[in-house]
Amino acid sequence: MGIKKMKIGILSAGGDCPGINATIRGIGKTAIVEYGMEVLGIANGFAGLLEKDVIPLNEQLLSGILTLGGTILGTSRMKPFKHQEGDMVSDKPQLIMQNYKELGLDALVCIGGNGTQETASLLSKEGLNIIGIPKTIDNDVWGTDVTFGFDTALHIATEAIDRLHTTANSHKRVMVIEVMGHHAGWIALYSGIAGGGDVILIPEIEYDMDVVANCLLERYRKKKPYSIVVVAEGIKTGKKKKNAGAYIAKKIRKMTGLETRETVLGYIQRGGSPTPADRILATRYGAYAARMISEGDFGKMVGIRGNEIVSVPLEEVGGRLRLVNPDNGLVDKARHMGVCFGEK
Ligand code: F6P
Repeated sequence: MGIKKMKIGILSAGGDCPGINATIRGIGKTAIVEYGMEVLGIANGFAGLLEKDVIPLNEQLLSGILTLGGTILGTSRMKPFKHQEGDMVSDKPQLIMQNYKELGLDALVCIGGNGTQETASLLSKEGLNIIGIPKTIDNDVWGTDVTFGFDTALHIATEAIDRLHTTANSHKRVMVIEVMGHHAGWIALYSGIAGGGDVILIPEIEYDMDVVANCLLERYRKKKPYSIVVVAEGIKTGKKKKNAGAYIAKKIRKMTGLETRETVLGYIQRGGSPTPADRILATRYGAYAARMISEGDFGKMVGIRGNEIVSVPLEEVGGRLRLVNPDNGLVDKARHMGVCFGEK
């Protein structure tokens, strides 16, 4: 009798980002070619595990997806350990455990951001063989230096800022651009610096509107005809629905009298083909995850430290955010070059 093939499941959960397909391909191809495993794609995140909505993945299906944005498996924000509106199942974790067994899975790879890694950690505690892979444009997953998706979002945001420069200059305007990042300021900080932003506001650094207004007026006095203000969506605005870009633009107009326009970049940051750096990172994460499965190294998330792929216990990752340190070297260098973070 031959040795039973290992059967693994892959799902993507939470907000999508460029590079998910590259990582699915990295896991799947390595699992099939190198380790002779059977691979099941699970549709729409954890929702697919509740409904046993799966598709067997073979080499043909895994070909041609490296450059594709989004996720061929679909995704959802269904949280197995939280009661959510419209839930049809009373005990979601129990059904997931049962379906994992009925599908004959030996391991499950969970591709996702913070919320997904938290769920992955809880499922691992329940006894499932879980591997986490960090993905998100926000770059805020604890335990790794970088998540794939971030580099692509950074390119998109930087290009948008570059384009705002030329129109800002023609009209001598203040241009406010709101970028994503949830509670973290990584996209705003990096695109702000890469795009030569004059003011960068991030949730991790408390800002004062008087300081921002003075900084813009000072530029005007120095005969700088326009200004670029990069705002992270997560900054405090005193309102539940933050509308950070619009809020800051309105304040600037009122406090300085300068002609000001705002742009909200939105979901464009999550769409389209991943950059080469994200394709490579996603592929490395995927291939490493397949190797961890073959070695039975479960209950961990793949990550990168420096240029080395590492694994981190999921219980260390779950529920923690990796935010920008206000004393981060890049912030400090920008401060010394006159970039305004709105600090008093
Ligand atoms: O986590 C990625 C992200 O795009 C955040 O930057 C943003 O705050 C959030 O997702 C938007 O979520 P949704 O897709 O649920 O609108």
